[in-house]
Amino acid sequence: MSEPAPAIISFDVPLSTRVVGGQFYVFGEVESTNDLALQLGSDGAVVVAERQTAGRGRHGRVWHSPRGMGLWFSVALEGHLRGLPFAAALAVRDALQPRCPVVIKWPNDLLIHGRKVCGILVEHRGERNALGIGLNVHQRLEDFPEELRAKATSLELATGSRFDRAALLRDILTRLDERVLALRGNGYEAIRREWAHTCDLKGRDVRYGGIAGTVKDIDEHGALIVVTVQGEHRLISGEIEILTQGV
Ligand code: BTN
Repeated sequence: MSEPAPAIISFDVPLSTRVVGGQFYVFGEVESTNDLALQLGSDGAVVVAERQTAGRGRHGRVWHSPRGMGLWFSVALEGHLRGLPFAAALAVRDALQPRCPVVIKWPNDLLIHGRKVCGILVEHRGERNALGIGLNVHQRLEDFPEELRAKATSLELATGSRFDRAALLRDILTRLDERVLALRGNGYEAIRREWAHTCDLKGRDVRYGGIAGTVKDIDEHGALIVVTVQGEHRLISGEIEILTQGV
């Protein structure tokens, strides 16, 4: 939190959202915007950083967050929000889709041409949720650590175009606001269904942790029901490899 806030991610016209973005914090450098959202934020507060020194991914992974190359931000949201990761994935997809061919990969990664461009991490402290979103925008291949080069991408790498990060952020937050309002208005089931349909996994063969099987369904909690030779498995998170095209 030592550096002054850069002007680069700022809006000339205020957001016209109801919940998301009521407070807005922009930092030059932080350890993780999720920590700050859990500490500082009131409902809807957005914390953005130009760089994270200890960005976190799912399953204890590091999230590489180099200065100025992406959107690293978190939204503080109060109360039990069932389905928040699904809602967030749909919001990011909807914001990006006019710009690039992005798809959601179960559970909530966003991919372009099979490579990950955005990750979502929801963490909780008491009644507060920190919804963290990391979107790779301007990295070139050499900006990613070597072990990620075959599986990661950025918007610029995937499309060959430059992007206005403030405009992207505005669009994501606007979509997210609509989805959060829907969740709060009893919209969990509609959002879960839309997200499950989008994941498009029914009937596909997948592999996870050395086991292969066929996806029977996504259940009412968003878990994958996979039929294997050893019987049915229920996956609530983790990484899957998709082995076949949809049916
Ligand atoms: C994943 O593993 O796919 C989730 C990545 C989430 C990264 C974002 S960047 C903003 C926020 N702060 C963090 O430390 N992590 C999330």
